Amino acid sequence: MATFTFFGGKGGVGKTTVSSAYALECVEAGLETLVVSTDPAHSTADVFDQEFSDEPQPVEGYDGLSAMEIDPEQEVQDHLMDLRRQLNSQLSAAMVNEVDIQLEMAHQTPGAYEAALFDRFVEVMRNADPYDRVVFDTSPTGSTLRLLALPELLERWIDRLMDKRRRSIDLFEKAAIGNQEPRRVMEGDPILARLQGRKERFEFAGEVLREDASFYLVLNPDELSIRETARSLETLGEAELPVRGLVVNRLTPEPEPHEEGRGATYLRDRVETERERLEYIEREFDTPVVATIETRVAEVRGSILEDVAGELEISVGDDQPRTT
Ligand SMILES: Nc1ncnc2c1ncn2[C@@H]1O[C@H](COP(=O)(O)OP(=O)(O)OP(=O)(O)O)[C@@H](O)[C@H]1O
Ligand SMILES: [Mg+2]
Repeated sequence: MATFTFFGGKGGVGKTTVSSAYALECVEAGLETLVVSTDPAHSTADVFDQEFSDEPQPVEGYDGLSAMEIDPEQEVQDHLMDLRRQLNSQLSAAMVNEVDIQLEMAHQTPGAYEAALFDRFVEVMRNADPYDRVVFDTSPTGSTLRLLALPELLERWIDRLMDKRRRSIDLFEKAAIGNQEPRRVMEGDPILARLQGRKERFEFAGEVLREDASFYLVLNPDELSIRETARSLETLGEAELPVRGLVVNRLTPEPEPHEEGRGATYLRDRVETERERLEYIEREFDTPVVATIETRVAEVRGSILEDVAGELEISVGDDQPRTT
């Protein structure tokens, strides 16, 4: 059975780099691995120098590794199209117009993006059978992690929506056929069925995330990134999804002892500042630092990625999820 590993963190800290490196580690350890990116910038394609689509595809050069890229904006669009198609076949023309307007509004709602993404994550989890490990490179907003942490809240919210929908069908029927006739519209109501489906997805996701998933946060040794990490740790902790480890990326390399001059002095000063921050991280956070990665001169891909994977001391074997 597949287990799931999530990497989160602020924009640009190195989530895609670390996720890809970790996926390589998993493959090295003999695990059939899928890396799922939600990065609209297609950075996974850059890392592996290969185009991916929203379905898993083998990564060239790495046996046992597949990758897919989910485009959240496209997901929102597909979601709406799908819904529209389904409703069009079931509703009257007048209703279709009304529903169209509402769907358009729903698209603008804050969270529509994350909700669509979340649905896609759940779909990937449901179809994870061919893999031993699925690595999620989450989007930079952080709200995806927040969403992941809240399936129960979402379930309650869906329950309320279903209640509302039932009441409005009830009213509609009362108006149409009076109180005597048996009620039939409720069954087969496309919106209710849809809501029920979502509810089941959230239930499933909650279970998987609690039992078969591990979370890691990537950060850089700078104050913004450290503050953001503190917030994410809190959010995930509250949702009882404890973060297993922190990956500190982009540490400044130390110059050789004999090196002198402004460049070397600058590097030494930076190394010192970062050392203090690392100490702060280790002192203040309960979550352990499981890996530190130095800044490379160039973008991390190809053989550099393999080096980084070697530096990434997250033991793939220890990464088994908590058993309940
Ligand atoms: N240790 C490193 N050394 C050198 N370059 C790095 C390192 N880590 C990441 N980078 C580079 O920094 C850029 C951003 O990294 P990456 O894409 O992994 O971040 P991200 O957190 O996924 O960003 P986003 O939030 O935009 O998805 C990339 O060009 C990547 O190659
Ligand atoms: Mg990324």
